[in-house]
Amino acid sequence: MGSPRLLLLASVASAGRVYHLTDIHVDPIYVVNSSTAAYCNGPVIKNASLQAPIFGAPVGDCATPEALYDSALAFMADQPAADMVLFTGDFTQAGLQREAGADSVLDTIAATHEKLRAALPGVKVYGAVGNHDSYPGDVFDFPYEAGYGHFAALWDVEGDAKNATLRGGYFSQRHDDALVVISLNTNYLSMLNPLVKDNSSAAHRAGFDMMAWFGGELAAAEQRGDVVYVLGHIPGESWLPAHSLTYQRLMQRYAATVKGQFYGHDHEDYVRLTRECDDATCTGSATGVVFVGPSLTEGWPSENPAVRVYVTDGNYTVEDALTYTADILEANEKGAATWVLEYSAKDRLRLDDLSPRSWEKYVALQLATNESAFDDHVALRRRGYRGPRSRSSGDRCEALTDPCAVDLLCKSNFFNDADYAFCVKN
Ligand SMILES: *[C@@H]1O[C@H](CO)[C@@H](O)[C@H](O)[C@H]1NC(C)=O
Ligand SMILES: *[C@@H]1O[C@H](CO)[C@@H](O)[C@H](O)[C@H]1NC(C)=O
Ligand SMILES: *[C@@H]1O[C@H](CO)[C@@H](O)[C@H](O)[C@H]1NC(C)=O
Ligand SMILES: *[C@@H]1O[C@H](CO)[C@@H](O)[C@H](O)[C@H]1NC(C)=O
Ligand SMILES: *[C@@H]1O[C@H](CO)[C@@H](O)[C@H](O)[C@H]1NC(C)=O
Ligand SMILES: *[C@@H]1O[C@H](CO)[C@@H](O)[C@H](O)[C@H]1NC(C)=O
Repeated sequence: MGSPRLLLLASVASAGRVYHLTDIHVDPIYVVNSSTAAYCNGPVIKNASLQAPIFGAPVGDCATPEALYDSALAFMADQPAADMVLFTGDFTQAGLQREAGADSVLDTIAATHEKLRAALPGVKVYGAVGNHDSYPGDVFDFPYEAGYGHFAALWDVEGDAKNATLRGGYFSQRHDDALVVISLNTNYLSMLNPLVKDNSSAAHRAGFDMMAWFGGELAAAEQRGDVVYVLGHIPGESWLPAHSLTYQRLMQRYAATVKGQFYGHDHEDYVRLTRECDDATCTGSATGVVFVGPSLTEGWPSENPAVRVYVTDGNYTVEDALTYTADILEANEKGAATWVLEYSAKDRLRLDDLSPRSWEKYVALQLATNESAFDDHVALRRRGYRGPRSRSSGDRCEALTDPCAVDLLCKSNFFNDADYAFCVKN
């Protein structure tokens, strides 16, 4: 009783592990050894001699073969128990609609979840709707029960949260006596959804209604003394300016309540900072950290697949972000994917802790000024992938003097499109 050993065990027991999976993009009809030009989405390299390898073709901008997803799940099933899975959208492959249509999109989403449940029995799964999770992609009307009904059935949402998911694809769900998970449907915030651009549409109005609801949920959580995790898919890009402003004001007001913001969409591994706002811009001190999770897919751009684990304390404060990856080229060569720890954010980036203040310090004092820290960051964004690159991969960005460095730094520093654009110009 009270021996140092028992105390140590008690504090270890209260720590948590949270999975963050994003941009799975499973392609159920991936055919090994077929030409990558035959089925991959978008401006692929048209070259019939490019054969689809077992675990995926990063150079062909292909989606994720089931074999790659299965290998990630087998790895996760072998790891210590997790508290929950945050699954931040894009469950299917981008080109699926061209090949197979709406039913196939929804069937793939269901199959993806079923496999996850089988790998991690009893672990709660909370999701966010991605821009590819509809047919056709990017277009999300409101309400959209035909699509969201699947998520309401697949995710761990109950009562009001289930109803909210069914109607709008967003929810607030209590996880336990301390944590509430709030999932936003960013398809109603971003102009990637063409309906959001039309200010007379129901989808446009749904975004404003959701943000008003979000403010109410945060106020209620604060009043109860709960903490909150926020999930979304598109991290700020092409959001209506009014929404980015409201979002950052809420992150500022409820900085003590919101313990984490988890997003996806970009496939690359990085963080964006939310900041204190004045009337029209948000360029003050950091108020929050938006983890843009590394994708599980190997395409768009060419990269190694990844699984993220957050280590949390007993109060759901994120204490470290661990990234696991498999070398896709080696996996294809050996016929087996080996998942390894790529890095601990705390150790590799030499952070005091994972608070907004520490990330702000890292971005300003390391990323923006230290050539070697910048190079390391660029390599980590795509999990050290060094193989041949697809067209979607862009130019190599390997030095602080490259023009692309400004873009990366401004993106990390600011969440609003307008603040980001101003930063790039100046
Ligand atoms: C793909 O091609 C390789 C090499 O030609 C062969 O060894 C392998 O068995 C093929 N796999 C499938 C599933 O066709
Ligand atoms: C097709 O890909 C192969 C293998 O990478 C390469 O050797 C060949 O030059 C490519 N052909 C064209 C027309 O790009
Ligand atoms: C959910 O919606 C159904 C149908 O509209 C309604 O009967 C039910 O009371 C709602 N449940 C909750 C918890 O709001
Ligand atoms: C909707 O958009 C039109 C055209 O841009 C604009 O004239 C109008 O004021 C907008 N209405 C609202 C309510 O924002
Ligand atoms: C959690 O928060 C409570 C109340 O703020 C505090 O007393 C406790 O020490 C915290 N626990 C951990 C593990 O940080
Ligand atoms: C720059 O970053 C590297 C790691 O990439 C680190 O070893 C070094 O100490 C940093 N330099 C300064 C001045 O912080």
